[in-house]
Amino acid sequence: MAPTGLWLIGARGSVATTAIVGLLALRAGLVDPVGCVSARQDFAAVPLPDWDEIRIGGHDVVDTPVEKRAEQLTESGLIPHRVFATVRSGLSAVDSEVRPGYHPATHAGSQADAAARLADEITAFARRHGLARVVVLNVSSTEPVFPALAEHDTLDALEPALAEPTRTVLPPSSVAAYAALRAGCPFVDFTPSTGVRLPALAELARREGLPYAGSDGKTGQTLLRSTLAPLFTTRGLRVRSWAGTNLLGGGDGQTLADADHAGSKLASKGRGLAAMLDDADVSAPLHIDNVPDLGEQKIAWDHVSFEGFLGARMSLQLTWSGYDSSLAAPLVLDLARFTAAAHTAHHAGPLAELAFFFKDPLGTDEHRLATQFTTLRDWAGSL
Ligand SMILES: NC(=O)c1ccc[n+]([C@@H]2O[C@H](COP(=O)([O-])OP(=O)(O)OC[C@H]3O[C@@H](n4cnc5c(N)ncnc54)[C@H](O)[C@@H]3O)[C@@H](O)[C@H]2O)c1
Repeated sequence: MAPTGLWLIGARGSVATTAIVGLLALRAGLVDPVGCVSARQDFAAVPLPDWDEIRIGGHDVVDTPVEKRAEQLTESGLIPHRVFATVRSGLSAVDSEVRPGYHPATHAGSQADAAARLADEITAFARRHGLARVVVLNVSSTEPVFPALAEHDTLDALEPALAEPTRTVLPPSSVAAYAALRAGCPFVDFTPSTGVRLPALAELARREGLPYAGSDGKTGQTLLRSTLAPLFTTRGLRVRSWAGTNLLGGGDGQTLADADHAGSKLASKGRGLAAMLDDADVSAPLHIDNVPDLGEQKIAWDHVSFEGFLGARMSLQLTWSGYDSSLAAPLVLDLARFTAAAHTAHHAGPLAELAFFFKDPLGTDEHRLATQFTTLRDWAGSL
C-alpha cells in the first residue's frame, strides 16, 4: 500500500516533535504504543496505516530544527535519552521536509498567494514520497480569537477577498486549512484556533469531498471533566460550581500567558462542561497561568462543589499532573491514522465520530467520553 503523509502545521513545536520522535520510536520497535488509542485491540481490524507507512513533513515559522527541539525535550525529561539517541538521524530527515509556515508579519503579497505556496509544498511532498494521501494536522501556537467577517460565510465571498494584496481575511490557521483543502487533503485541528471552523471552508471541504476534524485535543483537564461530569448527572447530583486552574510552562504556556491567545483556549475548554451538565449558567471559573519553571509539565486543579439528597453540600477536588506533549502526541498519530482511513473510505465533511479526541468537537454536541468512545469504535468498525 502507498504510504500516508502527515503534514504538521507547527512541525517544530513540542507536540509535533514528540509525535515525530514517537512515530520513529514505534517504527523501530523501541517503545510500546502506550497512550495510542488506535493501537488498542478494538481497532485491530480497521484498515489504518501502519507506523512504517506514515511519512512526516510540515510547516513552521521558527528555524530551530526538530532534532534540536527533541534534544531540549530529552533534557526536560519528556523523551528518554536512549530513544533520542536512536531516532536522532531520522529527525534530521523529517526536518528536511519542513518548510517556512505562513506568518502575516513576514509575508508580502495576498493570502491567496500564501495559501497557493503552502498547497504546492504539500503537493510536492506527496509526489516526492509517492503518498496515497496527506493528512494536514494543525499543532501550531494557539491564536487569539479572530473576528468574524462576512467573507467567511461563502467561498464566493472568501476567494476574491483572499486575492486582495493588502487584506488579512483569515488567521494563519485558516489559511493553512484552506491550503490543505485546496491541495485535496483532509484537515485536522488539534488547536482551539479558528482553522477550518468557517462556513466557507466547510463548503470547500464538501465540494472537494474531504473530511475534517477538530477542535483542540482533549488531553488533560477536559478529558477528566468529560469522564466525571456524567458521574454527577447520571446520579442526579446537582453541580453548583466547577472551578479549574491550569499551571503550564513550555511554548504553550508562553503563548497562553497572553490574554488574547488564552481567550480561544478558555472558550473551547468551557463549552463542553456547560453542555454535559445541561446548565449553561453553572459557575465554572477557569484560569490558565504560565509557570516557566514547570517546563513541559502541566498541572490542572479542579474543585467541584455539588449538592446531594436533602441539600447536603459536598465537594470533589483533584489534581492532574502530566507532560502535556506526552499526552497529546499519541493522539496526533491516532488522528492521522483514523482520518486517513476516513478519507480512504470517502467520508467527507466534519468527522463527528472523532469527538473522543477533542475538547470542542466539530459536528456534534456529545462531550461524554464513554459515549464518544463507543461511537468511535462503532464507526471505525464500519470503515
Ligand atoms: N496536551 C497538549 O499539549 C495540547 C492539548 C490540546 C491542544 N494543544 C495545542 O497544540 C498546539 C501546540 O502545542 P505545543 O505545546 O507544541 O506548542 P509549541 O509552542 O511548543 O509549538 C507550536 C509551534 O507552532 C509554530 N507556529 C506558530 N505559528 C505558526 C504558523 N503560523 N505556521 C506554522 N507554525 C507555526 C511555532 O513556531 C512552534 O514551533 C497549541 O495550540 C496547543 O494549545 C496541545
